[in-house]
Amino acid sequence: MKINLANIKKAKNLLNKRECIAIPTETVYGIAGNAYSDIACRKIFKLKSRPKNNPLIVHYHDLKRLKNDCHLNSDFLKLYRKFCPGPLTFILNLKKNSKISKIVTNKKNTLAVRFPKHPVTRVLLERLKFPIAAPSANISSRVSAVTSNEVKDDFGEKIKYILEGGKSLIGVESTIIDLRKKPKILRLGGLEIKSIQKILKKKIFIDINPSKISAPGQLRVHYSPGIPIRLNVRKIKKNEAYLLIRKKNINKSNYFFLSRTGNLKEAAKNLYSTLRKIKKNNYNSIAVIKIPNKGFGRTINDRLLRASKF
Ligand code: TXA
Ligand code: MG
Repeated sequence: MKINLANIKKAKNLLNKRECIAIPTETVYGIAGNAYSDIACRKIFKLKSRPKNNPLIVHYHDLKRLKNDCHLNSDFLKLYRKFCPGPLTFILNLKKNSKISKIVTNKKNTLAVRFPKHPVTRVLLERLKFPIAAPSANISSRVSAVTSNEVKDDFGEKIKYILEGGKSLIGVESTIIDLRKKPKILRLGGLEIKSIQKILKKKIFIDINPSKISAPGQLRVHYSPGIPIRLNVRKIKKNEAYLLIRKKNINKSNYFFLSRTGNLKEAAKNLYSTLRKIKKNNYNSIAVIKIPNKGFGRTINDRLLRASKF
């Protein structure tokens, strides 16, 4: 992708002034602000109508600055070397003298950190004197945005600037792993658990539906396109959109394919934009065919299940 340095300069100037902007990442677009500034972080929560107790992920260019903010451990370093930059978010212990705004963490002593891979955002991060806090660029509890136009649809004039980065390559949020004690997955996402397992070579716990919510991405109602969703449907109702995973012989205007070949990675990439498209086309509800519950299929099913609780 061609990098437009004038755009990056504009983004940088706004962030330096403690404004919020939208940034592209390889997973989904984010609403970014200076993670060291209370003012900037408060603006993020306000823009998204996000509950104050839902902490933000902080995005770094590399380890250098993170060392000032968090305690690192050996599991983290192994995963960092293998997968970063990439679609993986780590929960670490915050250092006492860290400059991270208390608004980011809701005064907790842990921090979610990530090293996004998108080339435009990497150049931006490299040029900033602070890391950026960035939740997904959507209204709280709704479907994330994977293009600048989708960000515009959600925020309109309220967002000062959208840094253009094309369509997000992965299309679902990062996988979240808590590494403070035994490795524990808090959110399924853009990196498969089996890839993490191969590197850590130890049991990885999965805690994506806890009785006590530690990440609101774990909330049962989330990622909603704003209309009802029915899962594992073989027969659709009249006027329903049908979300399918691979080509069927018949093409109909209400059939929406996540992947023509049944490729689950491609399906994950197309998930959010297809849900948004269906809503835009004024369907009243969505029926989803059974999606294989393996690899990225697990992430897709996780998101659709939460979206169906709307
Ligand atoms: O791919 C991504 O992770 C995108 C891009 C923009 O980087 N960001 C994203 O952020 O999905 P957000 O805010 O939509 O989701 C972050 C999740 C939330 O469920 C939040 O509760 C959880 O991370 N989280 C943040 N800090 C946490 C912490 N200290 N402990 C546990 N969960 C945390
Ligand atoms: Mg989100």
